[in-house]
Amino acid sequence: MAEELHPDIESIVLSEEDIHGIVSRLGEEISRDYEGKNPLCVAVLKGAVVFTADIMRAITVPMAIDFMAVSSYGEGVKSSGVVRIVKDLDTKIEGRDVLILEDILDSGLTLNYLIRNLQARNPKSVRIATFLVKDIEGKKPAVAPSYVGAHVPDAFIVGYGLDYAERYRNLPYIGVLKPEVYEK
Ligand code: IMP
Ligand code: MG
Repeated sequence: MAEELHPDIESIVLSEEDIHGIVSRLGEEISRDYEGKNPLCVAVLKGAVVFTADIMRAITVPMAIDFMAVSSYGEGVKSSGVVRIVKDLDTKIEGRDVLILEDILDSGLTLNYLIRNLQARNPKSVRIATFLVKDIEGKKPAVAPSYVGAHVPDAFIVGYGLDYAERYRNLPYIGVLKPEVYEK
């Protein structure tokens, strides 16, 4: 499918069609593993909203949804590792099977903080489903996700919920942002 490429995008990493296939596969895996359960899916705002809207419709077991917003400070292209909860859950998670939905696992510092924070509330289980994992040579993320949509190269990518300074979240595909856009 030919997609109109945004002028700030260098190349497409995952097309809409690729994304659809990945989400269907993840939905099947999650539905199989949570058979007979009623997981609470926790979407990490804002990046995971688009993935969340898609994956929840690919999950066939009963489930509930809640949202958390964390900020790792600043609008740069690198995670600072200093995480702050901007919006907490509305739901009590004690005894629940919690599935964190995240857009991208980079250093893993954000998810490492989040998983510890949620574990302290005594859920039955906590797992991570991340749409993307960024492959960085010689570096292992601080957490191990149970579900991974796709691995992407170490470049700054946007679209499908991922932003640069709050822009590009609405692109229907995942693309590499031209470095001149953030090096200006
Ligand atoms: P981590 O703490 O380094 O794993 O960073 C995770 C968060 O940083 C993600 O939830 C994203 O919001 C953001 N992030 C990391 N890499 C990218 C990227 O390539 N594009 C857009 N956002 C990113
Ligand atoms: Mg972000």
